[in-house]
Amino acid sequence: KLLLLGTFVHSKTQQDLDFLHKAGIAVDAHGKIAAIERDAHDLSEAQARLLAKLGWDEAEVDVTEAAEGQFFFPGFVDTHIHASQYANAGIFGKSSLLEWLETYTFPLEASLKDLSKARRMYSRCIRRTLSHGTTTATYFATRDVPATNLLADLCLSMGQRAFVGRVCMDRPELNPAYYCDASASDSVEATQQVIDHIRRIDPGFDVVSPIITPRFAPSCSAEAMKGLAELHRQTGLPIQTHVSENPGEIQLVAQLFPESNSYTDLYDKCGLLTPRTVLAHAVHISEEEADLIAHSKSKVSHCPCSNTCLTSGPARVRWMWDKGIDVGLGTDVSGGYSPSILEAARQAAMVSRHVAMAIEEEKEKERAKLTVEEVLYLATRGGARCVGLEDKIGGFEVGMEWDAQLVTLNEINDDGEVHDEDDDHGFVDMFGWETWGDRVAKWVYNGDDRNTKRVWVKGRLVHRRK
Ligand code: GUN
Ligand code: ZN
Repeated sequence: KLLLLGTFVHSKTQQDLDFLHKAGIAVDAHGKIAAIERDAHDLSEAQARLLAKLGWDEAEVDVTEAAEGQFFFPGFVDTHIHASQYANAGIFGKSSLLEWLETYTFPLEASLKDLSKARRMYSRCIRRTLSHGTTTATYFATRDVPATNLLADLCLSMGQRAFVGRVCMDRPELNPAYYCDASASDSVEATQQVIDHIRRIDPGFDVVSPIITPRFAPSCSAEAMKGLAELHRQTGLPIQTHVSENPGEIQLVAQLFPESNSYTDLYDKCGLLTPRTVLAHAVHISEEEADLIAHSKSKVSHCPCSNTCLTSGPARVRWMWDKGIDVGLGTDVSGGYSPSILEAARQAAMVSRHVAMAIEEEKEKERAKLTVEEVLYLATRGGARCVGLEDKIGGFEVGMEWDAQLVTLNEINDDGEVHDEDDDHGFVDMFGWETWGDRVAKWVYNGDDRNTKRVWVKGRLVHRRK
């Protein structure tokens, strides 16, 4: 059992953060939040109140205190990341999507058939994303079943909550011969093998869950997409894919599937648009496509770093929200250069300003900009909604699970003095007069993994910064 004491910050609504001061959270042996106390006189009072409320003994709890200048924040949710491309993070040259896949991506993914290479890369990816505060990752693995199973094993043993997808791609004319499923039924059967494996290692899908993963329409036959949609109907498992990322890709989809009205309509006709579907990118969707996504309750993973790196285009988050679409954040490593969701949040704020600069009308221009509170919502509760875990993670409520990070800023004492000489402090300069809102904003714009001191998933300490 855990007791966490200090300041807690989490999203109250999409627009507002809630700051709990002189507060405490008690976490039970199953990793669930059992009680929350706030506005105590001091931290020992918060602790006493929690113990009394739950009838717990001091001796049975492990206490962690956030010092002045530190706070607990929900773990980040990465709704779209290719663990299988981790080694290429930062390598993308001048290419855009289709030639990038050919040149950089397919060769790397195919090489992970070598399980020792896969183990090395996947372990580093998990360790690195955990160190950046990502407690839940929605992963694309590769076509290879043993390597995909290995990614699931590693997530479970290293303690990262994860959705792990075996990538399906069965179109011989559009996938390289060395990296293509033999048939539509091969795509479905191989996915089933991964589901069976994960059911063996985590029967309730408590920490690691399979996710059905047609790569994207140009890689897949309609038969494979329909077969995978049928697998979703039988199992209720989530689905992930890419949609409308790049103009060349959209043209290709129109050529390949002339009978569909749009990229999104194609997925709908194949049965892939469901409330458990996460669509990455959605940069160039039309009004009608946005309405279709909203109506189906499918979710969008906004991947701002990737959309800029591959010059795909700026996705319009405010517009999608206005349409009623749930949006989360994805790093999209290695279309995106960074494994950090904090970086994705910052880039979401930047890209929204680029969207704003292209709008003439003053009020609309102003509205397009995302605030610090909004990008942090995308990084936590928004992401949790996208992956169907909004009742479990993304915020601090009784009954939710303790997926959290301890964030440190420059340590400030009670008199507002900064302990600069302390090597252990974070890497955001604080001067002592900042409000808590200012502190969080500085973290979002200037922080990195050095600010993330500890990370827990389901109550288990999974990362501790030395
Ligand atoms: N579309 C199909 N495959 C991929 C991929 O691996 N990354 C990105 N960003 N888009 C894709
Ligand atoms: Zn992607």
